[in-house]
Amino acid sequence: MAMIALKCPDIQVVVVDIAMPRINAWNSDTLPIFEPGLDEVVKACRGKNLFFSTDVERHVAEAEIVFVSVNTPTKTSGLGAGKAADLTYWESAARMIADVSKSDKIVVEKSTVPVKTAEAIEKILNHNCNGVNFQILSNPEFLAEGTAIEDLMKPDRVLIGGRETPEGQKAIEALKDVYAHWVPTDCIITMNLWSAELSKLAANAILAQRISSVNAMSALCEATGADVTEVAYAVGKDSRIGSCFLNASVGFGGSCFQKDILNLVYICECNGLTEVANYWKQVVQINDYQKSRFVKRVVSSMFNTVSGKKVAILGFAFKKDTGDTREAAAIDVCHGLIGDKAQLSIYDPQVTEAQILRDLAMDKFDWDHPQHLQKPLNPVDTTKLVSVVVDAYEATKGAHGVCILTEWDEFKKLDYKRIYEGMQKPAFIFDGRNVIDVAELRKIGFIVYSVGKPLDPWVKDLPAAPPS
Ligand code: UDX
Repeated sequence: MAMIALKCPDIQVVVVDIAMPRINAWNSDTLPIFEPGLDEVVKACRGKNLFFSTDVERHVAEAEIVFVSVNTPTKTSGLGAGKAADLTYWESAARMIADVSKSDKIVVEKSTVPVKTAEAIEKILNHNCNGVNFQILSNPEFLAEGTAIEDLMKPDRVLIGGRETPEGQKAIEALKDVYAHWVPTDCIITMNLWSAELSKLAANAILAQRISSVNAMSALCEATGADVTEVAYAVGKDSRIGSCFLNASVGFGGSCFQKDILNLVYICECNGLTEVANYWKQVVQINDYQKSRFVKRVVSSMFNTVSGKKVAILGFAFKKDTGDTREAAAIDVCHGLIGDKAQLSIYDPQVTEAQILRDLAMDKFDWDHPQHLQKPLNPVDTTKLVSVVVDAYEATKGAHGVCILTEWDEFKKLDYKRIYEGMQKPAFIFDGRNVIDVAELRKIGFIVYSVGKPLDPWVKDLPAAPPS
């Protein structure tokens, strides 16, 4: 919305939310999320044509176009638990729009939703509001966190789906006009509603599939002595495949990939497409396998036990340049190591101690729920086994092992000699993001494990099957 305000000075944008602290933060000097470049955009427009308010009903009533961006977490109970999208927030937003509307509106689905959600929303809107005409559009967002501003400035494409009626087409044109302020019109694709809704799930599933494919290869590389970086480079040089999104890692995270694939799986199952559902499920299963494989590597390399040993965790966010930890691989890896009674010392440049402790006290299903729904901290595990520190040197001091779980640039530039000197010997380093120079670190004296790279003899010679 900030980008629309920046690029369309003729349009008044009001962002509304029922959460007062969040809106207050958007109106303050410290924005509630860290995103490179966002501060500048918000500060350039705020108070001119960009406003943040908790007066939801008034602003929705006044608007011509309403973008709905409420969250759609995975359902945690009832029918489809663990897979289907929970549309509670969407439904209550639609009911509120119906209640307050006195004039015709275009309602835009911005949140990622299951295919055919627009149909349900249309029914809620049209059965609850007399005399007002609603057009529903699907306009999925493809920005990635950490590069949101760049992605919004120059999107690969903007997708707009709508009804194939004259009114539907008119609504599509109205939204197209907004984006046409800065996006070349040949990058604005229009289609039917269901195609637009499905395209978003399909794009995320196929992106995640690339990572699971390369991660599956990384296991085979470790077993054979091949190097996954070389393999991915060679494979990506094929212009039909391309080089992006082929970095092996400890596993993908983020608020979208797993949620959207599980959602896709559920839609396939509901349509009786068991084979298709199983195919996509495997992408998530390989991701879980990759995380547990990493934990096993750590434990088996460190003489089959990490109990009571200090292990430094460098990086907790699901990727660099964000403070977001939703579905971060670090959460699962830390849980695995805590299960083996490791003493964790965690450092991330953007994630607060409170967030880390909250994430580690969560049950798996709770993670993508709003904070007020989350369980209180589990004081036993968190205070006994986890400490959160302010830099990488403190985290690694006296540690037996170091795990790099987010690819923050600063981890490439650390003084590893100093880190080595401060650690217990033998000093292990497990690079879950392939950011360090393996040869250089081995020269210093580290025993190094890097995902999908030829194994250090120390790592290799240890028993392959760790304790379960
Ligand atoms: C993703 C999609 O890219 C975006 O289009 C969609 O709108 C939302 O979901 P995001 O979750 O912000 O965006 O991050 P993304 O850059 O896609 O990374 C997702 C995860 O995959 C991260 O944990 C990242 O570290 C991991 N990843 C990415 C890899 O492990 N290897 C890669 O090659 C690329």
